[in-house]
Amino acid sequence: MNLKPMLKSLHSCLVVFVSLIALSSTAAPRHVYLTWQGDTSRTITVNYQTLEPSGASTVHFDTKPRNGRIGDYRFMAVGRSHQIAGLEDGREIHWVELGNLEPGQTYYFVAGNPKHGFTTERKFRTATGGSEKLRFVTGGDMGIGPDMATLLQQAAKFSPAFGLVGGDIAYANDILTNSTRWDVWLDHWQTNMITPAGYTIPMVLAIGNHEVRGGMTPTNSRFYLRYFAQAGERSYHARTFGKNLAIFLLDSGHLSPHDGEQAEWLDAQLAAHHNVPHRMAVYHVPMYPSVRVYDGPGSVAGRQSWLPIFDRHHLTVAFENHDHAFKRTPPLRENKLNPNGTLYLGDGCWGMGARPVLAKRRWYETKAASLQHFWCVDVSRKSVEYRAVNKAGQVFDVYPPNAKGAKAAEKVYEALTQPKSPEAQK
Ligand SMILES: [Fe+2]
Ligand SMILES: [Fe+2]
Repeated sequence: MNLKPMLKSLHSCLVVFVSLIALSSTAAPRHVYLTWQGDTSRTITVNYQTLEPSGASTVHFDTKPRNGRIGDYRFMAVGRSHQIAGLEDGREIHWVELGNLEPGQTYYFVAGNPKHGFTTERKFRTATGGSEKLRFVTGGDMGIGPDMATLLQQAAKFSPAFGLVGGDIAYANDILTNSTRWDVWLDHWQTNMITPAGYTIPMVLAIGNHEVRGGMTPTNSRFYLRYFAQAGERSYHARTFGKNLAIFLLDSGHLSPHDGEQAEWLDAQLAAHHNVPHRMAVYHVPMYPSVRVYDGPGSVAGRQSWLPIFDRHHLTVAFENHDHAFKRTPPLRENKLNPNGTLYLGDGCWGMGARPVLAKRRWYETKAASLQHFWCVDVSRKSVEYRAVNKAGQVFDVYPPNAKGAKAAEKVYEALTQPKSPEAQK
């Protein structure tokens, strides 16, 4: 009788049993999600949480699946954990940065430690380091309702390299007793932001007013700064993705004012990236609002402090949020229509209910409508294409107008924005 297969299967059963015991503990990983703190093609940060102190923060990873057999992974990285003072459940947030990765490579990983258990195996792909085509999705004002989960599912179907969020994320307002809002938001992302091929989609975040409580100090945005490993205590940062794309994640006056240090930093960053063909900004409060008044303080501050910088450096596009509606501007420069200007897309409706827009278009609106959506953005060396997608997965706006599907999208937009008949409104 051959005992070897029997022993092997007995061993596997034991491993599963021990893992189940470990995972039932509150020190087992609760959430796992991916961010970047630096080079997007050679690093990634695995963020995970445990609901009590759990010892070492480790990630085992490999270029081949190992189905959670810890000893089989060829690589291991060790990180650190921290807590949020005053958060009652005493959870730990673990940040483990993986380095020396290959660009555009698939990695399989588990996070945790042997004592308290590991996450199930997940896979991610590092960003390209070259000129390959790249796709991402973006939007803001998500919340934790069912529409947000559905919109994430639709976004994941496009197999984006990352999801870019323009603030107003879980609407926890940095109140510690709202921690369950973050739990729900993280669960939604973890469950739904997986591509059809099984890749976990990393998140790249900008701050919004609902990430902050009170004044402009880091202690007033504890969840945002301590849950997501991005740029330390700083609320704005830049990321490049391959050779064609640089993104500037700005703080529209929540922890940092528009002007002063941030504006100087933005000017210098845009100058340093002038050879990157597509330079994009994402921030929360729109300069060109579709719902709120044009002269709101956040919009005015943006136009005063950032607009001249955007214009000077020929910013490709700005993704705006906060107004909970859909809008697209024509290219604008010096606050006027200009075919060589910057495109402004918004306005943050990736889960929250859509607010009504005025019946008459403002001077800067090509389109504005009360529609939930996210933007799917395709970047190549020579061009960028933008597609707005709704909860049903319908593409209802495409820019530029000669891009594939633009005409069909016009028809969808017309149908979605047609005034409802009195009968239908009942
Ligand atoms: Fe919002
Ligand atoms: Fe907002």
